[in-house]
This record gives sequence, C-alpha cells and structure tokens, in this order.
Amino acid sequence: MKELRFTLNGGELAVHVRDDERLLDVLRERFGQLGTKEGCGKGECGACTVLIDGRVVNACLTLALEVEGCEVLTVEGLAGPGGTLSPVQQAFVDHGGIQCGFCTPGMILSAHALLVQRPDPTDDEIRVALAGNLCRCTGYVQIVESVRRAAQALADDLSEEPPAPDGTKEAGSADPAARATKEVGSV
Ligand code: FES
Ligand code: FES
Repeated sequence: MKELRFTLNGGELAVHVRDDERLLDVLRERFGQLGTKEGCGKGECGACTVLIDGRVVNACLTLALEVEGCEVLTVEGLAGPGGTLSPVQQAFVDHGGIQCGFCTPGMILSAHALLVQRPDPTDDEIRVALAGNLCRCTGYVQIVESVRRAAQALADDLSEEPPAPDGTKEAGSADPAARATKEVGSV
C-alpha cells in the first residue's frame, strides 16, 4: 500500500491504495462518489468520466496513484451549497438530457470541461466533446440540446452581471472562459 494525496472536489485527501487499484474503485468505494459509474470497464463508454486537472479522463483506465497531487472533479463536485445544481446539471434536467441517468454524470462532466474551454460551442463541437460518452438510451438530441442551453444560460448570466461601482464589469467577467470556469465549476 502507498499513500496517495490528492484533491477531490476541492477537499484535500490522503488515502492508502494498492499499486494496482483503479481510480474508479477508490472514488466509489473509499469516497462514496457513486456518480462515477462503471459501464464497460475498458475505456469505451465514458460512464466513469472524471476530470483530472480539468482534463476528461476515464477513471476505469486510471490507476489511483496517477492522481497524486492532482485535482479530481466528480459530478458530485459540481453541485453548489445545499445541492444547488450547476447550470449544466440543471439544463440536463430541464431539457430531457437524462433518461435512465447512467451515462449522465459522465456526459455532464464532459460538457463541463467543454464549456470551460469553449463557452459558446457549436453543435459539432458539443458532439465531438461528448464522443467518448455513450448513451444506451440514445437520447443524443436532447443531450446536445441540454449542453447548448447550458451555454446559453451561462452567457445570459454573464450579460446580466451588474456593473461594478466604477462602471466596469466585475473583475474576471471580461473573460468568458474564466467566467464559465467560475460558474460551471462553482454552482
Ligand atoms: S467504465 Fe470506464 S469507459 Fe466504460
Ligand atoms: S440516459 Fe440512459 S444511458 Fe444515457
């Protein structure tokens, strides 16, 4: 067993793991991150998607020890205080992006990563970003629509942001990507 230190959804953790232990199992069994699903277990379905330092990664193919010193984000980390859904989560609820829900955490994390990089993606960019996430319920039209609506909600929030007392926007709001990072990642 080796000691592993990493950040999970903003909290610093330490745990002892075996050399061959998968990140997927550590997240689910040690830390109760049950939104991280096991589908295929071999890197094909995306149900186990998490973000490691902002990158979309399959937790079933990642050894736990590989995240030493990294920031890991699971779908549980997207919700705000009191369980307030993030804009992406809310859009999936509102626009039919969820059917059975098995693929949904992975889809939402991939969408989250996309919107941090591309706050105003095209439909093709959304499809490419979600290409590693398979939905057995085949609800892709609603899923793409949900991501499009989440992007719109974030853009609307940005345009409604009140000006600072000196007449400028709040610090950081001039950068849409930074704002998307803040909003998508914090609520
Ligand atoms: S369970 Fe990891 S990609 Fe399918
Ligand atoms: S909503 Fe059922 S697998 Fe996607």
